[in-house]
Amino acid sequence: MAGTVTVFVPRETAALSLGADEVAAGIVATGIARRLDIDLKRNGSWGMSWLEPLVEVVVGGERLAYGPVAADDVASLFDAGFLSGGDHPLKLGPTFAIPYLRNQDRWTFRRCGLIEPLSVAEYRANGGFDGFEKALHLGAGGILQEVKDSGLRGRGGAGFPTGIKWQTVADAPADQKYIACNADEGDSGTFSDRMLMEGDPFTLIEGMLIAAVAVGASKGYVYLRSEYPLARSVFSKALSAARESGWLGSNINGAGFDFDIDLHLGAGSYVCGEETAMLESLEGKAGLIRYKPPLPAIEGLFGKPTAVNNVITLASVPEILARGSAVYAALGKGRSKGTLAFQLAGNIRRGGLVEKAFGFTLRELIEDWGGGTFSGREIRAVQVGGPLGSYFPAELLDTPLDYEAFVQAGGMIGHGGVVVFDDRVDMAEQARFAMEFCAIESCGKCTPCRIGSVRGVEVIDRIIANEDRAANLALLEDLCDTMVDGSLCAMGGMTPFPVRSAVKYFPTDFEKPFETDFADGSAVQPKAGVSQ
Ligand SMILES: Cc1cc2nc3c(=O)[nH]c(=O)nc-3n(C[C@H](O)[C@H](O)[C@H](O)COP(=O)(O)O)c2cc1C
Ligand code: SF4
Repeated sequence: MAGTVTVFVPRETAALSLGADEVAAGIVATGIARRLDIDLKRNGSWGMSWLEPLVEVVVGGERLAYGPVAADDVASLFDAGFLSGGDHPLKLGPTFAIPYLRNQDRWTFRRCGLIEPLSVAEYRANGGFDGFEKALHLGAGGILQEVKDSGLRGRGGAGFPTGIKWQTVADAPADQKYIACNADEGDSGTFSDRMLMEGDPFTLIEGMLIAAVAVGASKGYVYLRSEYPLARSVFSKALSAARESGWLGSNINGAGFDFDIDLHLGAGSYVCGEETAMLESLEGKAGLIRYKPPLPAIEGLFGKPTAVNNVITLASVPEILARGSAVYAALGKGRSKGTLAFQLAGNIRRGGLVEKAFGFTLRELIEDWGGGTFSGREIRAVQVGGPLGSYFPAELLDTPLDYEAFVQAGGMIGHGGVVVFDDRVDMAEQARFAMEFCAIESCGKCTPCRIGSVRGVEVIDRIIANEDRAANLALLEDLCDTMVDGSLCAMGGMTPFPVRSAVKYFPTDFEKPFETDFADGSAVQPKAGVSQ
């Protein structure tokens, strides 16, 4: 081995929770002890969470991967000569040849894992700010046309066309407009916003810059969930680095354009991810939903026109500008254009992030990428789209992953989170959980959600306890109708989706005998899989 060898160890929440810092420290210490010259870089994650900590070494200009590496493996990696690509049981070969990564369509995440997240120079060298420069050249009208032509839809959940939202903000007359980035990422099984902010934060900054030029905003806010301390730290540093290098602040890039971004932390409320509650919270008020209209695009933050967009929506834009809307629009299926960063979680063998053009099936995602359940048992249910998404049974696994196909099947893609359950799951308990979640997280502004969800838990409890089941199932249906029709926002309006899908596809779980096992007659819940 001659010269300095570059080694990558991710600094990303999942990798850190699996010991990435200890692995990095071990590599540095062993390198010093063995008098080897190592340049240790801390990248973001490629999203192959099941392989974390994934250590890469650059050999002959190529990145070779080893993983998952524990601190205890470090000595044996050195003994095997991993710095020159030596064989080791943990050797995975060239990073880009790992099928999980190779078979993706990396667009928004193309730099995540590749570069040091806080290096403006590396970001630039890998196409960073090309999209913004193109945007400055195109001007507001040209950007709006490109974003509309790309077919990009909001990745936060509702899938609303981004170009149309931006046009509305652009057309609203006002002395002040805002870009408000929604990084609350409250959906179960989702982590793409976090991974992007930890692994390639300048892409989000660049997306917000482009949005600002498009709509005429001079100020941006990022609303980040407080449970993401690393994303907070990385993104704060990225903001400082962008300011220091002239990509944020006054007269950006000498173009006579001013824009800056403030980072705000949420306080753990799911409903503050809803755009109007988020705006209330940003204004320092309690996170209650606002009545619509007026739309935030017309009267948003501090009463001014505001483009509220999810992290991934904004972070997809720089590449759309850089490569052209037609390239993006050519990916995907029907009205679901481009790519989505799906997130595999729950009972899954190969959990992680898969960015792929819309149109492949849920089965391909779970089986080809995810490798089936972690337990090795049968898949029984899959929840896509967060806690308000329907539970799909195994029979619906061939549903194509696109917005329309999912709606047709009674579900929603949402933010692309996929949570897998095996055949031991009790779906009556999951239905109860959905109602209980709504009861806990409800902002309380409207009755169908505030009271309905509490009554929903009680009704499901009675069904589970086999108290007048037929009547209580009918009551649950009525209650769901009331919540769908009468709730002010999707929190109460969509909680019936997981509840109803559980009743529809897994009726036997609502028909189980109620067990009273204890000598004192106190009750326990029926065991999963037990049927009458
Ligand atoms: C209860 C609830 C929670 C939500 N949570 C989030 C969230 O955590 N992140 C997000 O981007 N959108 C969330 N949304 C959707 C937002 O209201 C909004 O549609 C989105 O931020 C718009 O950005 P987009 O057009 O880029 O998707 C939530 C919606 C509801 C009803
Ligand atoms: S549906 Fe629930 S969260 Fe939404 S406004 Fe009504 S009470 Fe608040």
